[in-house]
Amino acid sequence: MLKIESLSKTFNNRDAVSSLNLKIPQGQMVGVIGRSGAGKSTFLRMLNRLAEPSKGQILFNDQDITHLKGRKLLEWRATCGMIFQQFNLVGRLDVITNVLTGRLYHHGFLASMLRIFTEEERALAIRALDRLGMAHTALQQTDTLSGGQMQRVAIARAMMQQPKILLADEPIASLDPMNAKIVMDALRTINRENGITVLCNLHTLDTARTYCDRIIGLKDGHLVFDGLPSQLTLDTARDIYGAEAEDAFSEATTSTALGGEPAKQRLTEKDLQENARLEMDP
Ligand SMILES: Nc1ncnc2c1ncn2[C@@H]1O[C@H](COP(=O)(O)OP(=O)(O)OP(=O)(O)O)[C@@H](O)[C@H]1O
Ligand SMILES: [Mg+2]
Repeated sequence: MLKIESLSKTFNNRDAVSSLNLKIPQGQMVGVIGRSGAGKSTFLRMLNRLAEPSKGQILFNDQDITHLKGRKLLEWRATCGMIFQQFNLVGRLDVITNVLTGRLYHHGFLASMLRIFTEEERALAIRALDRLGMAHTALQQTDTLSGGQMQRVAIARAMMQQPKILLADEPIASLDPMNAKIVMDALRTINRENGITVLCNLHTLDTARTYCDRIIGLKDGHLVFDGLPSQLTLDTARDIYGAEAEDAFSEATTSTALGGEPAKQRLTEKDLQENARLEMDP
């Protein structure tokens, strides 16, 4: 159980996320919706502590996550794998090496950078790729893949962390509808078969309604909807999206029509350096 209590994040005296309270049972697939700037990314980033909460608490199975430091923080980051709109893979490396960097949190940053991995880890990486129908690309240079293939590799990388939670920040916003479906199907399968909680920021309502057990709506950092997909009426959507509601609700609207802009919130060089620092000086 993931418990979020009065969680807030303030930037320049303005709440990006404002006093969120949520209980998310293990194994739920949760869609987080809201218009641009609603606080979706900030919320997900606080959960794995890429953004520090300004107030409130995050608890996972009654362990307080909010103030973890050093090795404990790294362990937590391994527990919640993260997937991004722009995949955050290293294009010039081959696919399997990208997947193996998912061991970063277990194996040590330096070892990952020097690409020292055990045979067992390599076998694990191939299995993770195979599950996503991507084993045949293991030795291919990553930047030769299509967007949908890259996102599947990114999911395989996250699975190498053996996570209990997957945080996906607009995972299909850069993909065409067919690849969007493949990626969402993969997340759903992982959710169902491994009992991994999935929290997924989504731009399109129809995707959230198709795949998620529960939908959370954010507006200006506030929780304005928390319920079943079937409970989300057009009126509620109007409240969440304002004038964009009809578009967001439209079955015809594809992820590419709404998305496509570059992600603002990537796992940056700074995040990686911060992990390296924690690794050396826990
Ligand atoms: N590092 C930052 N510094 C200052 N303000 C920030 C920072 N990150 C986010 N914000 C602000 O916090 C608010 C929420 O941003 P966030 O990126 O979480 O929204 P979002 O719902 O993910 O939007 P989008 O759909 O465009 O990705 C916005 O007003 C944004 O400008
Ligand atoms: Mg965002």
